[in-house]
Amino acid sequence: MQLRNVSPDDVDAYIRMRCDPVMMADLGGTLPREGMADKVRRDARQAADDLAWFKMIVPDETKTTPEVVAGTVTIWSHDTSDGPMSEIGWMVLPEFQGQGLGKRAVRTLLEQARDQNRWGLVHAFPATSNAASNGICRSVGFRLLSQAEVTFAGRVLKTNHWAIDPGKDLR
Ligand SMILES: CC(C)(COP(=O)(O)OP(=O)(O)OC[C@H]1O[C@@H](n2cnc3c(N)ncnc32)[C@H](O)[C@@H]1OP(=O)(O)O)[C@@H](O)C(=O)NCCC(=O)NCCS
Repeated sequence: MQLRNVSPDDVDAYIRMRCDPVMMADLGGTLPREGMADKVRRDARQAADDLAWFKMIVPDETKTTPEVVAGTVTIWSHDTSDGPMSEIGWMVLPEFQGQGLGKRAVRTLLEQARDQNRWGLVHAFPATSNAASNGICRSVGFRLLSQAEVTFAGRVLKTNHWAIDPGKDLR
């Protein structure tokens, strides 16, 4: 498994992740296909400018097929009433789920955060019903802080609020 920056060519993978009812079941339902190409372009630009880490998970370690992707893992910063907050999110496509790839990708990106001393405390907000995502948080070393209602793409989700200090907590 390796991580690479999102590129504008990843639009098909974005559509398969964000416009699919099963993939989006714990995220409030599908997002419209229109606008996905723009979203990929914006994410690719932010990744290229190193403003946020938008990574594609590439299962092939030989680097011969970097276009075959298993999902995404992302760290970005956003403003809250308490100041800026770093957040991590992830998605793994159905044919790659249950193989430990999500966990390895999340751990790899948090190792990069630790090694570059970037992002500070990293927060995650998986839906309370998302057993696999809560499993990733638990086994990578996040601490469960509380339950929280979070607005994602205009929908209110019931989530667990987890946080990790990659310099101290990563397992
Ligand atoms: C959630 C998701 C990222 C998990 O990715 P994955 O690669 O299948 O997960 P992994 O194989 O790395 O497993 C991670 C942990 O969850 C556990 N797990 C995996 N699937 C599970 C399931 N269906 N129920 C309970 N636990 C599960 C694993 O055993 C592992 O825990 P362990 O280390 O204690 O053994 C993936 O299923 C997905 O993208 N789903 C749809 C979109 C989504 O929900 N995104 C996340 C929004 S927060």
